[in-house]
Amino acid sequence: METIEAIYKRRSIRKFTDKPMTAQQIETLLKAAMMAPTGRNMQEWEFLVIQDRQTLSKMAELLPNGPMLKEAPCAIVICADMDIEMAAAFYAGDCGAAAQNILLAATDMGLGSVWLGVQNNAERIEKVKKFFNLPKNIEPFNIIALGYSAEEKGAAERYNAKKVRFEKW
Ligand SMILES: Cc1cc2nc3c(=O)[nH]c(=O)nc-3n(C[C@H](O)[C@H](O)[C@H](O)COP(=O)(O)O)c2cc1C
Repeated sequence: METIEAIYKRRSIRKFTDKPMTAQQIETLLKAAMMAPTGRNMQEWEFLVIQDRQTLSKMAELLPNGPMLKEAPCAIVICADMDIEMAAAFYAGDCGAAAQNILLAATDMGLGSVWLGVQNNAERIEKVKKFFNLPKNIEPFNIIALGYSAEEKGAAERYNAKKVRFEKW
């Protein structure tokens, strides 16, 4: 699949089959994540990969936005190491770019995925920190639920010419 095709086809998938993902697939996704650009190339991201069924089910109960983790065979918790210089300024953009690379790579690989917001919600941040006993300097950014899709979704149509100006506002 061409990259542009993956971009156009990607949708949030919230229903998954129980087919597990391979270690190789997960490594490919993580490599894609770490190819993302970061402010000053600081790469302050950290990735916590969860495949244990019980842990995933507990996460589903813990997080109001995580019910699909009851079925998903894999979740990647994207975090930032806030001890790294300038992380506070850059981590949202940097982790967001890594997250998007995972979503697009997953689409390209025939996998479904969805971005579960954590960074925008103090309660979710605290829950995730506590649940995984994260070190003080590690801030959860989001969770990507991953697996083989159990729902069909066509490409979205979103281009809106009204959102675009050329040369001046
Ligand atoms: C910052 C951010 C936070 C999101 N949080 C959630 C979430 O908590 N739960 C969820 O089901 N989807 C979440 N999504 C996915 C969006 O709902 C989804 O991308 C949007 O509705 C567009 O649909 P599409 O991804 O299928 O194109 C999030 C997406 C982003 C970028």
